[in-house]
Amino acid sequence: MFGIMYDFRSTSHVLHRPQLFDFHGVSMTNAFTDNWDNVQNFKARPDDILIATYPKAGTTWVSYIIDLLYFGHMGPDRQTSIPLYDRVPFLELYGKSCVVYVARNAKDNAVSYFHFERMNGGMPEPGDWSTFLQDFMAGKKVFGSWYDHVNGWWEKKQTHSNFHYMFYEDLIEDYEKEIDRLCSFLGLSPSVEEKERVRASVTFDSMKQNKMTNYSTVPVMNQEVSPFMRKGTTSCWATFVSQYFQSCRRVYKEKKL
Ligand code: A3P
Repeated sequence: MFGIMYDFRSTSHVLHRPQLFDFHGVSMTNAFTDNWDNVQNFKARPDDILIATYPKAGTTWVSYIIDLLYFGHMGPDRQTSIPLYDRVPFLELYGKSCVVYVARNAKDNAVSYFHFERMNGGMPEPGDWSTFLQDFMAGKKVFGSWYDHVNGWWEKKQTHSNFHYMFYEDLIEDYEKEIDRLCSFLGLSPSVEEKERVRASVTFDSMKQNKMTNYSTVPVMNQEVSPFMRKGTTSCWATFVSQYFQSCRRVYKEKKL
């Protein structure tokens, strides 16, 4: 619910994983709180758009869609030379501007977050899956509790007309319908051709290949450990948890426990 400015490039020097600490009741690391004064002093303009999500809920995807809806007409140079995190900066605020919130179901969100912490030296060590999961459920993760985040913004939506609430799963299931809803909220009326151009650029495969959206420009992220654009699907938690369970069983049998 707070404003955060996070410059990934500033973490390229990280040698040790950062530690979590309590920041106004929410678990955080320095990278997210160093600019706190600037964030608090930030004045939103009415035509600003805030994209808010719990980490790993589809921030990159929806940021890219909105960027293309507004600036797609500026030609390919912008899309091939400026990383997405510079076009849609990591700044959270709470002002009079529009808010687009993206929620993702807790299970897929947790698995995605686990792999993100494994590959990102700028995040605390996740430990093994079982440790990670317990911490996740206890809200001991950067940006705190998934439930408080998703629910807190849902409650705000009930009383604020400038809020648009989206679900990652809906974008997967019925992309066209979700884009029409989003455009109607933003007051945009792209032509069929413009919408098709956006659609082609924001597929999982296109974004995975695109250096400006796949975070391969961020040295602190080790894409060999796990790619940033990892699965991009719903219900991938089931496969992951079942594989984890099988590997535990194997160890259990080998050790004849
Ligand atoms: P997975 O790790 O499950 O693959 P965020 O941008 O908030 O960090 O979220 C990252 C998650 O969104 C990753 O999930 C990533 O693959 C997924 N994602 C990003 N772009 C996507 C797209 N175009 N289609 C589907 N999923 C996408």
